[in-house]
Amino acid sequence: MLITERQRMVQDIESWAGQFGNDRSSLMPILQNVQKKYSRISEFSMQAIADRLEIHPVEVYGVVSFYSFLKDEVHGKFVIRLCQTITCDMAGKDRVAKQLENDLGVSFGETTTDGMFTLEYANCLGMCDQGPAMLVNDQVFTCVTPEKVHDIIQGCRQSLTAFAGLRKES
Ligand code: FES
Repeated sequence: MLITERQRMVQDIESWAGQFGNDRSSLMPILQNVQKKYSRISEFSMQAIADRLEIHPVEVYGVVSFYSFLKDEVHGKFVIRLCQTITCDMAGKDRVAKQLENDLGVSFGETTTDGMFTLEYANCLGMCDQGPAMLVNDQVFTCVTPEKVHDIIQGCRQSLTAFAGLRKES
């Protein structure tokens, strides 16, 4: 029997709650899993998580809207977050930002039409002594230059394996 995406999502949430625990302490790992599998955290999934963990939906909405890495709308396969805080700003963040926009053909806050990349700013990533710093999904890149931007994007496009190999700072 075929099941709908909503039914599958409820089954997944059940399974993750079984794995991480049936209380609010499992909220974050369940949200991360929903996002990883479904690319976004829909209203339906937030309600299903709240029901499963027996917490108020507002609590779930609050967590999703507080953390910039949790998304309630569709985003690219690769979410690039460039640090805009002062140390990275002084280390050349603007040149990196321009290169990202040029290479991807979108502005910050947008997703490429092929659904591959979303471009966003982030606040300090804790790598201030190696700025400019940026995240590509959960991978940190440091000492980013315009040239390195090109390599990182190419790596993402080619394969996840190539992408992993470019993590090391230049
Ligand atoms: S200021 Fe950019 S990582 Fe801290």
